[in-house]
Amino acid sequence: MEYYINDIKKDNFEGKEVDLNGFINSIRKGKNNTFFMLRDPSGIIQCVSHSSDKNFNEVNEITRESSVNVKGIIKKDERAEGGYEISVKEIKVYSIAEPFPLKKGHKKVFLFDERHLWLRSPKMTAIMKVRSTVFSSIHEFFSENGFYEIQSPSFVGGSVEGGATLFETNYFNKKAYLTQSWQLYAEAMVNSLWKIYTVAPSFRAEKSRTWRHLTEFWHAEAEIAFKTNEDVMDLEEKLIKYIVKNVLIKNADELKLLKRDTTMLENVVNKPFLRMKYEEVIDLANKNGLKLEYGADLGADEERVITSKLDVPLFSIDYPIELKPFYHKPAADSKHVLCNDLLAPEGYGEVIGGGQRVDDKETLLKRLKEEGLNEKDYEWYIDLRRYGAIPHSGFGMGVDRLVMWICKLPHIMYAVPFPRTPRRLNP
Ligand code: 4AD
Ligand code: MG
Repeated sequence: MEYYINDIKKDNFEGKEVDLNGFINSIRKGKNNTFFMLRDPSGIIQCVSHSSDKNFNEVNEITRESSVNVKGIIKKDERAEGGYEISVKEIKVYSIAEPFPLKKGHKKVFLFDERHLWLRSPKMTAIMKVRSTVFSSIHEFFSENGFYEIQSPSFVGGSVEGGATLFETNYFNKKAYLTQSWQLYAEAMVNSLWKIYTVAPSFRAEKSRTWRHLTEFWHAEAEIAFKTNEDVMDLEEKLIKYIVKNVLIKNADELKLLKRDTTMLENVVNKPFLRMKYEEVIDLANKNGLKLEYGADLGADEERVITSKLDVPLFSIDYPIELKPFYHKPAADSKHVLCNDLLAPEGYGEVIGGGQRVDDKETLLKRLKEEGLNEKDYEWYIDLRRYGAIPHSGFGMGVDRLVMWICKLPHIMYAVPFPRTPRRLNP
């Protein structure tokens, strides 16, 4: 039977012999007794070795972060963290660790330099467990709702989300770019499969260095045939509710360790999300002290103010056409587009961007021209409007941003095992 530390902190294990692999989280050596905390993915347990035990000398050789196998008897002990303790019978050392470089109170920059080691901390472990639930929930949700999972290339010939954030690479002496979104490919694939999704990295050469921007991020995107902006918002809301509900059930211990107040997450599951038109969102921002004019773009700072007092996510919809890329379908007034940004509460802001797509050739050609884009670069995409176009909609969700908000982290870099930002390529 495979078991972990948290499985054995139970009465039915009391007095039984257990066999565990783990790392030494901390150690306190004494003349008569040596105590160490053994850590595995599930948790930590206190282990004790007495000077009369035959392995006492071996135990005294181990150091913090050494890797070991421990055999011993599990005992109830009120004084031990978690209420149980292992009395060590045998210890096998896999590797004695050199003096461990991470200590409490280290500066953040140092911790990011040592990310390969920092990932072992209980806090980072808890975040990564939540992240795992988020990813598996996305796949479960789409699978349960009849979507096909399908992939698009990472090397692409042109931009989706504007040239400013394109990463250029040398592709056999030609220019290629790293994809910003699967969307244009999705709009081709949606014609045969009708309900599709992907979970993949997207790349943005972000010049804006904020707490919510990465240069490489995980993007969960969906595209659906014969659906409107309204329909796709319903789907986004269902998806977010599904993920958060799963995290509340599966990661109760991790949320506790992260000191995450779960009231807000419960609201997300139980209350309907808000929907406001762009103009109303601008009014809301101004009521909260900003001085925005119609036409202002909403970035991290503005969204922080807009969402900090909300108790559920907010769909900010129908932006002025100038603020959004060419592919959004214009509304009847031609001044707005049928789009939605889903803003997370508690100051976090945009986690999803989506909407309805232009579905006729004339409008698409006009929009490409207005945006100063070269028709030639979009030939195959224009074809999709030549040969049986359909109404369709979709969205992209920043998975790292979602994890940051669910765990209420101060920076997106905490939500990713090895974050990539303009300043960080190592480790
Ligand atoms: O709003 P965006 O740019 O929309 C698109 O890329 C659409 N083509 C998606 C689609 O409709 N299929 O990006 C979608 C989401 C954002 O809401 C944000 O959560 C995340 O991707 N995102 C980033 N996350 C981290 N770092 C960055 N630099 C990000 N840029 C976007
Ligand atoms: Mg966006």
